[in-house]
Amino acid sequence: MTAVLNQATRSPFSDYSAYVSKLQRLKLESHRVADWNTRVDAALNGQASVELRRVAPVETRRKFGAFFTGTDLGSRLIGCGTGFDAKSVFYDPTCGMGDLLIAAARKLSLCKTLPDTLRQWGKQLTGTDLHREFIEGARTRLVLLARQRHKTDEELQNTDAGFFPNIRVADGLKQKALFNRATHLLLNPPFGQVASPTDCKWAGGRITEAAAFVVAALERAKQGTEMLAILPEVLRSGSFSEQWRKRVSQLAEVQLVQPYGIFDDSADVDVFLLRLTRRAESQNPAPHLWTDSAHRTSIVADFFDVHVGRVVPHRDKKKGEEHPYIHPRCVPTWTTMRDFPESRRHEGKVYAPPFVAIRRTSRPGHPYRATATIIAGNRPVAVENHLIVCEPKNGKFSACRELMRQLKTEAVNEFLNARIRCRHLTVGSVAAIPFKL
Ligand SMILES: C[S@@+](CC[C@H](N)C(=O)[O-])C[C@H]1O[C@@H](n2cnc3c(N)ncnc32)[C@H](O)[C@@H]1O
Repeated sequence: MTAVLNQATRSPFSDYSAYVSKLQRLKLESHRVADWNTRVDAALNGQASVELRRVAPVETRRKFGAFFTGTDLGSRLIGCGTGFDAKSVFYDPTCGMGDLLIAAARKLSLCKTLPDTLRQWGKQLTGTDLHREFIEGARTRLVLLARQRHKTDEELQNTDAGFFPNIRVADGLKQKALFNRATHLLLNPPFGQVASPTDCKWAGGRITEAAAFVVAALERAKQGTEMLAILPEVLRSGSFSEQWRKRVSQLAEVQLVQPYGIFDDSADVDVFLLRLTRRAESQNPAPHLWTDSAHRTSIVADFFDVHVGRVVPHRDKKKGEEHPYIHPRCVPTWTTMRDFPESRRHEGKVYAPPFVAIRRTSRPGHPYRATATIIAGNRPVAVENHLIVCEPKNGKFSACRELMRQLKTEAVNEFLNARIRCRHLTVGSVAAIPFKL
């Protein structure tokens, strides 16, 4: 019975506790031990994320949206903020291991003693997360940062929880008091797809949870609160997010919209940085340019539905109907493919031609970043996950031909080179390519 109960209540991240305990031991060691600083640097710069990837499968991390912000991205976000002083109160409603709070704490001053600093930071740094392991980790890492900056072995009488009473396990969407106290909201929410709230006026059907978090946080924030957020690129540039952008502009003054590129090596998603200030709600907000140019250029996502192919060859069982099958090695480039040398059984999503297939990885020395092929014919095609599929919203072959023509240009190369550093194309980067029909 107990075993059953334990299993039922077992946290999805319980295997991560061993790493958090290691951080807690590091916090108690003397800073004079030869490699203490090096180990603290690692603990504050990316190790928490690497360790999570080691112990938690990607499906679990996706389900709970557990992807922690890297040091560079975190400091860039905080660098966009304004008005930080000793009275600033930061709240990260989905704080994970505290990476955004750590980036903010690097900007806070130190008091005379370590305990004084921790008491002061405890008033200024607040956060919530659903998972106990992350909350304990976030508090411990903040103590590590304070100790490292103080260069001291001063005794600490209080526990981490005593120093950071407002970093706690809770649902970030239900914290009225914390939203109310905050002068700055820090946000890198989960990006998974969820059903839109039933009373939602700005979306229907399934939406990214990130969109719901931003609106919920702004609705709860008091006037004048600054929000600094890392969000999926589709919210900035997708035509389907227009209503979300409108709702955000009603609640806040949009001050900075900055494309960033891919989140990190483990989360293949393009993000942008956003700075907003909550103001009195306005039915007629001044229009804000979420995109770079004065007249919004149209993009691929306005004319095509963009997806990654659904077949994962070594994982998916060959079950279901037999379909023509394409993968990068059998698809000729810059032409129309009508005959399919390979087929396979596939139960999942297949795509009805015509559509454009783009290789996710460009070959070294290949002159174009987005190498395309038009897939024609009249049978639905199973597509391997190393290809990106662009289905024309108007269903026309001519739209595919125009997309293939525009992809084979230096302008698209330059756009993709500026936008993503790695060779791997993402759905977000293809969706955002400027495109006119
Ligand atoms: C993308 S991670 C970001 C963590 C942290 N803000 C950072 O930037 O590193 C999102 C976090 O949100 C947490 N989370 C998801 N839903 C939540 C909710 N309703 N309330 C509080 N935390 C939540 C997850 O456990 C995860 O740690």
